[in-house]
Amino acid sequence: MKVRLTGLGTKRAALVRAAGRIARKNGFAAYLVGGCVRDDILKHEVKDLDIVVEGDARQVGRELARDIHGHLTAYPQFLTATVVSPDGLRLDLATARSEVYLFPGALPQVRPGSIRQDLFRRDFTVNAIAATILPGRFGEVTDFFGGVEDLAQENIRILHDNSFVDDPTRILRAIRFEQRFEFRIEPQTLELLRAALRSGAERRVKPQRYFAEFKKIFKEASPACALRRAHALGALNFLGDALCPDLAWFSRFEHRILCLREDRFFRDRDWASVFLMAFFHGARPQSLQKMVERFGLSRDERKNLISAGAALGIAAKLGGRNLRPSDVHDLLNPLSAETILFIRAATSVKIVGQRVDDFSKIYSRKRLSITGDDLKRCGLEDGRETGRILKETLAAKINGALATRREELDYAKSLILH
Ligand code: CTP
Repeated sequence: MKVRLTGLGTKRAALVRAAGRIARKNGFAAYLVGGCVRDDILKHEVKDLDIVVEGDARQVGRELARDIHGHLTAYPQFLTATVVSPDGLRLDLATARSEVYLFPGALPQVRPGSIRQDLFRRDFTVNAIAATILPGRFGEVTDFFGGVEDLAQENIRILHDNSFVDDPTRILRAIRFEQRFEFRIEPQTLELLRAALRSGAERRVKPQRYFAEFKKIFKEASPACALRRAHALGALNFLGDALCPDLAWFSRFEHRILCLREDRFFRDRDWASVFLMAFFHGARPQSLQKMVERFGLSRDERKNLISAGAALGIAAKLGGRNLRPSDVHDLLNPLSAETILFIRAATSVKIVGQRVDDFSKIYSRKRLSITGDDLKRCGLEDGRETGRILKETLAAKINGALATRREELDYAKSLILH
């Protein structure tokens, strides 16, 4: 079988072909592997390009970077290299390797190996398909474990019985891929997954590592299905009772948030953080604090999770009577766009949704035409006073009282205390 690798696009395909020529010149074999081959066969968008070299990946990386005037970063201890082309295209190259797990859940020890060994160490058959990039054979598929058939049959299948025990993060990966592609974890794999959970396999990995895999669920377009499936299988028990989420609420949240995807104000935001906020929004502060410590969350993640509780308080205030546009602005303006998005999707109260929309579409875009310099020219030297006056003038503008620069200036002057 041959894949056309059309999903790569012309420029990336040229880069991959160049890597293939260099590999051939050095007498190595080289393959595209993993997600990019899987996604190309599924006709999905191809994201990261991973190349495995049977030989020396760093050698190929060095020569490629030199030929295209790109940038090379080599990681000798991992037998890998990354090349970034002058126009920013990225290629990850790894020397084919075999892995040994010294004990269940440990990080594996790696040593150079064959492409078969390299594919065999991977999580699922659909991720263990390789496509050669050598000249003349470009796109020819190497599929030792029936990955192509499993893609056709829509199966998520592990490669050997110890897979979940060796690497329990694969429990969450199986669920994530199953739900993303609307496949099914095939029966024997599911049985082994359940057995791994029954034996507490997830407790044998560092909590941070398991949590990092858990967080990837929130990067999916629609995390609720994977979370429900994980919950039903007991794969979320690692969070403990205190963090037990309300999945029905989360599903409604997701439904509302997906309607906001195309909104200009929200389009390029960190959606994964917003989903994470929603998932943990009901947790008590002590539970959150414990979680932050146990799973090693970053300062930003911690700030976001804590702000979710406060955000619901703000949502309640936004439902108040007789709020002026400037009051809405004052409530929302200090918050991150992610927190505002969370409020927007967390509430089913119509007036709150309306006010958040007015903020994102109208109030947040209002700017004054006057500046502190205009006030200076009127004799105002005090910086704090200038700040107060500009803020009040902006509030008046947001409330629709000021239409022109002249009106702004007159209003600001009227606020100067003599
Ligand atoms: N892999 C694995 N076991 C893991 C993590 C990764 O075997 N615990 C392998 C898989 O073969 C996977 C490859 O490493 O295809 C790259 O990992 P990652 O980038 O996480 O997977 P993708 O398949 O590219 O997933 P995504 O589409 O979510 O980026």
